[in-house]
Amino acid sequence: MISFDEQTQVFHLRNDRFSYVFEVARGRYLLHRYWGRPLHAFRGSAELPALDRAFSPQPEDYENERTFSLDVLPQELSMQGHGDFRIPSLGVVLPDGTDVIDLFYDGYRILRGKPGLQGLPALYAQEDEAETLEVTLRDPRGRLKVVLSYTVFAGDGVLTRSVRIENTGEAPLRLKQAASFCVDFPDHAFDRLSLYGGHAAERSLERCRLLRGIEETASARGASSHQQSPFLALARPETGELAGEVYAFSLIYSGSFSMKTEVEQFGTTRVVAGLNPADFSWQLQPGEVFQTPEVVCVYAADGLNGMSQAFHAAYCKHLLRGKYRHAVRPILVNNWEATYFDFDDEKMDALAACAADLGLELLVLDDGWFGHRNDDNTSLGDWTVNRKKLKGGIEGVAASAHRRGLKFGLWFEPEMVSKDSDLYRAHPDWVLRAPDAPMSFGRHQLVLDLSRPEVQDYIVACVSKILETGVVDYVKWDFNRHLTEAFSAGRTPERQGETKHRYVLGLYAVLERITQAFPDVLFESCSGGGGRFDAAMLYYMPQTWTSDDTDAVCRQAIQTGTSYVFPPLTMGAHVSVVPNHQVGRVTPMQTRAFTAMMGCYGYELDITQLSEEEKQEVRAQVALYKRLRPTLQLGTFTRLLTPFDGTKNETAWMFTSEDAREVAVFYFKTLAEPATPIRRLRLAGLDPDARYTFREYYPAQTLSHDSLGMARQSLAGKTFYGDELMQEGINVEKIDADFTAYLWVLEKEA
Ligand code: GLA
Repeated sequence: MISFDEQTQVFHLRNDRFSYVFEVARGRYLLHRYWGRPLHAFRGSAELPALDRAFSPQPEDYENERTFSLDVLPQELSMQGHGDFRIPSLGVVLPDGTDVIDLFYDGYRILRGKPGLQGLPALYAQEDEAETLEVTLRDPRGRLKVVLSYTVFAGDGVLTRSVRIENTGEAPLRLKQAASFCVDFPDHAFDRLSLYGGHAAERSLERCRLLRGIEETASARGASSHQQSPFLALARPETGELAGEVYAFSLIYSGSFSMKTEVEQFGTTRVVAGLNPADFSWQLQPGEVFQTPEVVCVYAADGLNGMSQAFHAAYCKHLLRGKYRHAVRPILVNNWEATYFDFDDEKMDALAACAADLGLELLVLDDGWFGHRNDDNTSLGDWTVNRKKLKGGIEGVAASAHRRGLKFGLWFEPEMVSKDSDLYRAHPDWVLRAPDAPMSFGRHQLVLDLSRPEVQDYIVACVSKILETGVVDYVKWDFNRHLTEAFSAGRTPERQGETKHRYVLGLYAVLERITQAFPDVLFESCSGGGGRFDAAMLYYMPQTWTSDDTDAVCRQAIQTGTSYVFPPLTMGAHVSVVPNHQVGRVTPMQTRAFTAMMGCYGYELDITQLSEEEKQEVRAQVALYKRLRPTLQLGTFTRLLTPFDGTKNETAWMFTSEDAREVAVFYFKTLAEPATPIRRLRLAGLDPDARYTFREYYPAQTLSHDSLGMARQSLAGKTFYGDELMQEGINVEKIDADFTAYLWVLEKEA
């Protein structure tokens, strides 16, 4: 998969999905040469241009060679100061205050498999699944060593890269930038795709023509954030969901990040991705090593679905860990939107009884069970049960669930502290704050300083004490504000710029300890919904609460947006009450259920208040979901129509089981229209030569009477070749109602 040609000095990283090529030029510089479809060989048919470009300087050793300038060469690692005026990927300040340092090629090694990254989550692989290339660069004066690590996975469309920086000299250095990845493309005929949003409105797709100059997708919030996601793609303008070239980047990191593009004077494009340099600085003492997070890069020739499927496969195979890595997830009921803070033993017992009756599998007790927390003003940090609400304690609620055959889950927000809490009164210096400045509050709470080992120990102890009772099967780990005044008591002034990254490293240390100590617990990460929906959190916790917005129409967009990077198996998705608590919309129960069936399915409403007829419908939904769950959660996901294009009025998703035998197609239409054209829906990814039979069909509002669906549909029981379904397609029956949802289930002939 990885080769180095001594003669041409070319590194060729290749599998059956892509080739990635760079060379050592003049024994010193790492120049990027090619990234795209796999090549038989790389011999440099497109030579690097040697032109005398005005205002592009020469390094001292090449002063007389006016066609040689770092400013115009495609780099694998970029630094300013030597005449490459484009975005740098590494910035190192020397003790004399200058930031100019040479880094020349020094050697390489190729390893089987993939080493882990010290203190950071990363993709993992068995020895026979991947190869890793480590290329070393050194400062000729012995002060700095940099190792670039690249991993290629057999059969997967992803390439990973990270950087290790070591102070090999005798004086301290300061890192002002340490990006994970840098690449230069020879042109700029791209659209730039990113995911933007806000609380309860996460991950909408932005697609714009890539502009000249610098554009940035970033977070400086100390979290990967609701606002921008650590994802960037460059797609050819003609690239669509099913065809066309796209390059994409997903960062395995949960803190402040930056992904920049620069289209420079000659029309080439640079991408630099990694830690946000505006929110970072790091003292590197002699002998110390700094490890950057890892970026996962995809080249896909088969459109945005090809890109997403490459991410999904890599994250399912090489990122998720533990018992639930490749296991279907329980159907839960969560009491948050059912009761908010207003619950007691009796209410929880009633929810458990009803959940068991409806066929649900996991009862989750959300916020408000500890300290004296009856609203969001108090008690974070005091993780002892509130006996006024729960006389039997956590054990009592858990027993009521377990007695009925349900698993039991519990909410925590361990990284936070309320001003009104015993913890804050005892340790006011345990929060992030600037010593002589007022503190900023978010939801009345402060952020614990996870960069401090004693705070990490406190969190591990509190959470472990409850999990050690053995009654908790699931944990929802929340994080409900971003970092302000990110300074740490006791840290020296020159190291304060490290606090946000050290916070994230502290969080990873805590998560590693807790998740390894309780391997049977299913963990779901959350941050006011999807404010920390990133690959790093998924390494510790295999699912994330996708958004606090549970409205079906909003969720179709949020979940579709999330699917550009993350597989459905990682997305929490619940049916909630109408009128919806976030947007007041009234949508049919079937639409809410079909929308939530895309992810880790659950209910988040007071199920005890449902009418008998509604309960019947829920039982039918649950039975249908259990039947389809392996296909929906473990199969291949394809977007057929997205709410980001066309009329923004339709969404269609398709799921194909692992053995390719079962296919489920969901179609959603937001608003009904007069004189509407008939929607022809073309399926994708089927075997054109295989025969598929329509087994089940649920047109709008019919789930409670499933026989009705097929009876109304002329496709009932009919068989077609895959090519008919992909080329000719099927028509969606016209229904004159808003917020409709349809489902077809097909079976491939053995
Ligand atoms: C966040 C979560 C919600 C809920 C509340 C509890 O907003 O996203 O699901 O757990 O906190 O306070």
